[in-house]
Amino acid sequence: MITKPKGCHDLLGVEAKKWKYVDKVIDELMEKYNYNYARTPIFEASELFHRGVGETTDIVTKETYDFKDRGDRDITLRPEGTAGIVRSYIENKMYGEPGPVKVYYNGTMYRYERPQSGRDREFTQFGVEVLGSDDPMVDAEVISIPVLLFKMLGLKGIKVKINSLGDRESRDNYRKALIDYFTPNIDKLCEDCNERLNKNPLRILDCKVDKDSEILKNAPKTLDYLNEESKERFEKVKEFLDEYEIDYEVDTNLVRGLDYYNHTVFEIEAEVEGFGANNVLGGGGRYNGLVETLDGPETCCMGFATGLGRLIQALDLEQVELPIHNDVELFVMYVSDTEKKYSASLVQYLRANGFRVDTEYTGRGLKAQFKQADRLNAKYLILLNDEDLKNDEVKIKNNKTKEEELVPIDYLLYYLDEHLTEEDYDIEEEHTCHCHDHEDHECCGEHECHCKHGGEHEEI
Ligand code: HAM
Repeated sequence: MITKPKGCHDLLGVEAKKWKYVDKVIDELMEKYNYNYARTPIFEASELFHRGVGETTDIVTKETYDFKDRGDRDITLRPEGTAGIVRSYIENKMYGEPGPVKVYYNGTMYRYERPQSGRDREFTQFGVEVLGSDDPMVDAEVISIPVLLFKMLGLKGIKVKINSLGDRESRDNYRKALIDYFTPNIDKLCEDCNERLNKNPLRILDCKVDKDSEILKNAPKTLDYLNEESKERFEKVKEFLDEYEIDYEVDTNLVRGLDYYNHTVFEIEAEVEGFGANNVLGGGGRYNGLVETLDGPETCCMGFATGLGRLIQALDLEQVELPIHNDVELFVMYVSDTEKKYSASLVQYLRANGFRVDTEYTGRGLKAQFKQADRLNAKYLILLNDEDLKNDEVKIKNNKTKEEELVPIDYLLYYLDEHLTEEDYDIEEEHTCHCHDHEDHECCGEHECHCKHGGEHEEI
């Protein structure tokens, strides 16, 4: 038997429905923020990631899927989404448009990592990039997107951590301070940290092997090396985060694993019991120099990405019930050939009129069809019978109460509308809620509604 590659998943059944629901919420949210969907290739020239993500990063040195194509070109499966978006921004001369360019993406990424919970070789990222603005308000807006998304999906336990790496001058000063600090102690740190010392000492702070070492904990802090301009900028970002009503904490050891960052960096952790070590749901930051590194004009940018696998894992651990359909409204049953023929046109008619309908396809007897209807959680059964059809009637059975009724075919849609949507109306009419956080804000009127401003709701 051929099995799937290590660190990859088949997405099936209810799990797949959850992902599709999350995709839908993402699309709706992005429409509200006015970000445009962008799709770039899953593979790109290897050089893009070497220059974009950084030669010394773990991603580029150890984790990329690299290969030669049949034209002897060096190709890499994308390990992240930012470099591809920046390439596309430059190639399509999007800097010529009145900015900023605000885009989002939702697609698979590839990293050759040791597979474990929350760490896969093929994984999906939803991310956003804003290209062409240095406004600190953009930093706060980008951070607000995953926060609001997680809240809309019903996730409660999250922690937002932010830090600033400052501009180039601040980063250079900080880099020197780190080299001076780590050099006398470097033999006490892991092999990778020894290599990082001169190439990229900031990455030592991000080391997964030495993360609990006192040497790392007592290392110089970024914020002490920010010049006045960078300090002021960071203060403004924090002010805007307050305006966006985002709770956060400053973590001076947060440097992120990719080379392109400067000024604001952030990560969002899941504070959910049982999550394990890979509890960072998403992260990002400002990357003002990347467009130039990739031969484009000077452009200020900010973005983030979140792993949808980790997000859904967090939702599962918090036992959040997503509003997905795991049933059919109608299951059409038959025995004879004429009933079967009738069922074919009936299911299409019902589907065209908006109902979720399934029927029998394997020639099973009635008893097995009842079982199949139960497996599909069918709400109503339509039991076709030649005698009834002669009278232009069908038998409808409520699969919960087991009540049966003969319904004239002409009256069928009306009957189903009444019975099926009545259940839904009942829920909606009973449902009223108000927002804890924004007393004067309306509820959106839907069952399982979310405050338009991301506030907590209470059903009354
Ligand atoms: P990143 O921190 O490398 O950032 O990845 C972002 C998120 O992708 C992680 O927080 C995690 O949820 C998910 N992720 C990463 N690797 C894996 C994996 N092997 N398995 C499962 N999930 C994973 C970036 O990729 C940047 N491009 C973010 C960004 C956008 N910065 C600016 N703009």
